[in-house]
Amino acid sequence: MFPTHRPRRLRSSATLRRMVQETTVTANDFIYPLFAVPGEAVANEVRSMPGVYQLSIDKIVDEAKEVRDLGIPSVILFGIPETKDVEATGAWHNCGMIQQAATAIKEAVPELVVIADTCLCEYTNHGHCGYLEVGDLTGRVLNDPTLELLKKTAVSQVKAGADVIAPSGMMDGFVQAIRSGLDEAGYQDIPILSYAAKYASSYYGPFRDAADSAPEFGDRRTYQMDPANSREAIKEIELDVAEGADMLMVKPALAYMDIIWQVKQASNLPVAAYNVSGEYSMVKAAALNGWIDEQRVVLETLTSFKRAGADLILTYHAKDAARWLA
Ligand code: PBG
Ligand code: ZN
Repeated sequence: MFPTHRPRRLRSSATLRRMVQETTVTANDFIYPLFAVPGEAVANEVRSMPGVYQLSIDKIVDEAKEVRDLGIPSVILFGIPETKDVEATGAWHNCGMIQQAATAIKEAVPELVVIADTCLCEYTNHGHCGYLEVGDLTGRVLNDPTLELLKKTAVSQVKAGADVIAPSGMMDGFVQAIRSGLDEAGYQDIPILSYAAKYASSYYGPFRDAADSAPEFGDRRTYQMDPANSREAIKEIELDVAEGADMLMVKPALAYMDIIWQVKQASNLPVAAYNVSGEYSMVKAAALNGWIDEQRVVLETLTSFKRAGADLILTYHAKDAARWLA
């Protein structure tokens, strides 16, 4: 009798399909990004990211409560400072935006895990992720001096209440530098979620509107990775594991599912996938045009990140997805 095998037998009812489903997504998997701006009662919708807002501290606290109520365990904070300078003062100042947001959120919603993005590009006047040589117009960030600023930034973020540090600048040795900075300050128990394999991607465009962090000149290709490379991702992962990373991130996610899979095979640490701004905006734009079914497309994509090996997903869809899954 042909055919001998009939895989469709296990697809014949919704209940059977539910029984043999290999991957599940829940709100527990999500980390929701938040953008803190100065002021009061401010909620600026980001032009290229419908449904995403720059929020003042009072509003960010409301948002954190909503996130908690939806069963999402964690947020990641980005800050947009009042002023920018060569020293990225807004990144490490006690009254920086991430610091203020972390303190306010931990006071109002202590059970939420607050992750601080630790980078300098939102705070430098040129928009690069660290110090530049005087006169440099290409964006060749000076590695080791930048590590000192990152250390200082991480310590001040934890002092303000951050539970997890997530360095995103792709400087060599940043995990080790931040680990030693935190340990010296007495924060041995604060985990590091390293943006270990972060690519120089065009999918970050809308984020740079949200965080006002587009480089004024040059690009990030001397520090972020070439999208053509995957063995290099494994090298980055191995280094970050050796330097003491507690969790690893792959970023972007959608066009990098193979990297998520390989990173999962290469280490025993939890793997986070960053479903970045451009990925969100493409879905939103198509959905607003009535061209795709937003809910089904989003849930399919999030499920696929899990199937590829992600344990955690940073996504701007988190609140909607948590509602749909409830
Ligand atoms: C800053 C940073 C970026 C993102 C997260 N942290 C942008 C960049 O590297 O230019 C991108 C997030 C997104 O696109 O959603 N280092
Ligand atoms: Zn940066």
